[in-house]
Amino acid sequence: MEVIMKKVKIALLGLGTVGKGIFNILKTNNEEITKRAGYDIEIAKILVRDKNKNRDIDVDENIITTNFEEVLYDESIDIIVEVIGGLQPAYEYVISALKNKKHVVTANKLLIASKGDELISIANEEGVSLYYEASVAGGIPIIHSIKESLTANKIEEIIGIMNGTTNYILSKMTEEGLSYETALKEAQAKGYAEADPTSDVGGYDALYKLRILTSLAFGCSVDIDKIYREGIESIKPIDIDYAKEFGFTIKLLSMVKEKSGALEMRVHPTMIPSTHPLANVNDSFNAIFVKGNAVGELMYYGRGAGELPTGSAVVGDIISILRNGLNNSIIAKKEDDCSNIEVSSMEKTKSEYYIRLSVKDEPGVLSKVSTILGENDVSIFSVIQKGKSKEFVPLVFVTHKTYEGNIKKSIDSIKKLPVVNKIESLIRVENLK
Ligand code: NAP
Ligand code: HSE
Repeated sequence: MEVIMKKVKIALLGLGTVGKGIFNILKTNNEEITKRAGYDIEIAKILVRDKNKNRDIDVDENIITTNFEEVLYDESIDIIVEVIGGLQPAYEYVISALKNKKHVVTANKLLIASKGDELISIANEEGVSLYYEASVAGGIPIIHSIKESLTANKIEEIIGIMNGTTNYILSKMTEEGLSYETALKEAQAKGYAEADPTSDVGGYDALYKLRILTSLAFGCSVDIDKIYREGIESIKPIDIDYAKEFGFTIKLLSMVKEKSGALEMRVHPTMIPSTHPLANVNDSFNAIFVKGNAVGELMYYGRGAGELPTGSAVVGDIISILRNGLNNSIIAKKEDDCSNIEVSSMEKTKSEYYIRLSVKDEPGVLSKVSTILGENDVSIFSVIQKGKSKEFVPLVFVTHKTYEGNIKKSIDSIKKLPVVNKIESLIRVENLK
């Protein structure tokens, strides 16, 4: 008996790195996807900004449009996939799509981190689904895992490398001695970076991802402005070299943990022991540790950016919608009211610190700086002073664990010392086990 395969039409908003990945996966894995989804998936329309752009894929020009209304009001289209990026017009398009009863899949972390609660409410009201697996850690199925597989747990901590571009830059600077600028250009050429790479190197992209995971794991919509963020722009080769001397590797880490009813959330470059598994996550790979009170520790590892890994997550979401049935929706959970949950201020967080100063090369400097650290309850773990110069020399400390507030007070006093030229660098150290 001949099986008549059901057909479904979808539209892509965007045909850049991720759009092409989705297009290519649907073509290459067509047979398997059709069987798993129970539908023959046809890309009926693709919205782009520039119709005349040279695209290195074999796409029917007739389905490409620059007019969103052609997609929105096409009743034969059931699923809209947003891979434009940025807040506008993506936000407006996703709202319109949901209100027109289209299921939506998006890879847009900025959109979900800043407008996710509103979009989930609209999807629930309209009885359609909103999926966003690709918005965190590219190809790693971390959202599905937290939303579905770990619901038996109270999540205690999430810590990880959540940005492929910065991990690519830091690992190329560390392993191959590439300059920051060259490594960033390579990451852009490989399609890892955002259209505006400030989002990557400034730590914003990692912050959006942390915000999304926190809302799923802790049931709390934290205002993104309350999350501490620092990027990798000021990391210098000399800091990477000193880190190696101390047995550390520098990574951009995103962390959230619950401590005495408050959430400690932060994104910043961090020195971690070079023997720790996270230190050996290189290139565009991401890795996320999740600690649940029943399951214990889990580590997720995979490509965090790029055409096919990201396309894999998006197409997986499309298949989930189809398996669930086009006339059904997954009721997404609205977040609890978290107005009473405090996000700890950085002053109250504890860490070890790497401090690099440039100082006058004369007797007594070390003792002046150490006295200030001691007065502020900061104990020194290690010191390196190298070189001789008529001008300034580097003086490098690693401290024991202390409050950030104590470090800030110390730095304020140290920079006023006449023998200190500049506080060149301050990097947190996490002695992860
Ligand atoms: P991209 O390469 O810059 O592609 C963006 C696409 O959107 C292009 O096709 C562009 O059209 C189209 N576009 C931009 N503005 C538009 C507008 N106003 N109207 C219509 N079309 C518009 O971006 P991408 O790297 O694929 O990223 C897309 C999304 O996926 C972002 O939210 C990003 O954060 C997310 N994401 C990316 C990755 C990754 O590895 N790249 C991984 C995970 C998630 P033209 O082609 O005509 O310029
Ligand atoms: N620009 C992002 C990154 C893409 O480098 O991780 C994946 O979200």
